[in-house]
Amino acid sequence: MLQLATRIAVVGYGYWGSKHVRVLASLPGVEVIVIDGVFNRTAEARANYPSVRTADRLEAVLDDVDAVVVATPPTSHAAIALSALNAGKPVLVEKPLATTVADAELMVETASANHVHLMVGHTFEYNAAVRRLKEIVSSGMLGRVLYIDSARLSLGLYQSDVNVIWDLAPHDISIISYLLDEMPRSAAAWAERHVGNGPHADVAYVRLRFDRSGIDAFVRVSWLSPQKVRRVTVVGERKMATYDDMSDNERIRVYDVGVDPTDLSDTSANHAMPVTYRSGDILSPYIPFSEPLFTQDSHFVECVRTGQPPNTPGERGADVVRVLAATDVALATGQLTPVLGCREPVVLEPRLTGPVAL
Ligand SMILES: NC(=O)c1ccc[n+]([C@@H]2O[C@H](COP(=O)([O-])OP(=O)(O)OC[C@H]3O[C@@H](n4cnc5c(N)ncnc54)[C@H](O)[C@@H]3O)[C@@H](O)[C@H]2O)c1
Repeated sequence: MLQLATRIAVVGYGYWGSKHVRVLASLPGVEVIVIDGVFNRTAEARANYPSVRTADRLEAVLDDVDAVVVATPPTSHAAIALSALNAGKPVLVEKPLATTVADAELMVETASANHVHLMVGHTFEYNAAVRRLKEIVSSGMLGRVLYIDSARLSLGLYQSDVNVIWDLAPHDISIISYLLDEMPRSAAAWAERHVGNGPHADVAYVRLRFDRSGIDAFVRVSWLSPQKVRRVTVVGERKMATYDDMSDNERIRVYDVGVDPTDLSDTSANHAMPVTYRSGDILSPYIPFSEPLFTQDSHFVECVRTGQPPNTPGERGADVVRVLAATDVALATGQLTPVLGCREPVVLEPRLTGPVAL
């Protein structure tokens, strides 16, 4: 029997949309249609992929596609996604899902009302190293988690419609809440613009407070830093782990190191250090490489074909938007600000209970 191709429109053929097109065009049985409002962009898409159809507006092809990927600047996500959802098409929207909580909620409600799936492009939840780190944290190997530090720094692409928190921290919020199976309940933030007089901060520090586990996570994001850093550090009572996305072959490291308090009631040890140190092996598990965007987009195509719900649904994207919106209030007030209305994150895989082999 003749198998019809799954027709996916990718809206936005810029830096990231062109990667979606590369990945989707490589999947068997997928036909890609490229939409971009700028003629040069669609011309480049046709030069790179002579067989793809192109258009300058989604509406021109909406009746002829099975699903839509939105990879335009964040402030345009809601309008584009809503028109596709209202036409009954499943939609994958890049992070951040939207730039206001109201838009994010409307997108989730519209998907539900039209009985179609909305998925958010939280790419790192499809990253094999992040999944491995989650197994390690969930197994209890690190002991009780004391805090998490995440750094996403580089001489980055300055965005004109959002600040560096909305641009980069969706990744950190998605990774950390995925690791902990918990959304932060409050956020504090400091951010500043250092270059030019644009309205959006280019360097920021965010503190996320996770009430259930009592853990604080600290997120540093910057478009103005000389070295590219993509690193998450989980500090546990027994061991510590790092996920370094810039490492070729040691993306996850587990450090058998720790610090224990000394017994201050022991007066015979007056001059002793207030802590003692433990140090041991550093182990790095083998993680076979698979491109996270490939895994994510393959999953989206599978959801379109089968009707199964996505692992990163619109609700998850809306929760991350709620955290981002709380950082806006935190910046304006200088206060630790509640994150209102989050569900707990959807767990992609069952929590592991036993020890994890490294
Ligand atoms: N998941 C990730 O790791 C990751 C990485 C980078 C960017 N992103 C996200 O991808 C999205 C796009 O970012 P980018 O860096 O590719 O931006 P970009 O500016 O490079 O590209 C955006 C493209 O969208 C086109 N466009 C804008 N409005 C349009 C509209 N209404 N209709 C059709 N085309 C339109 C522009 O002409 C441009 O070609 C953002 O949401 C960003 O946050 C995600």
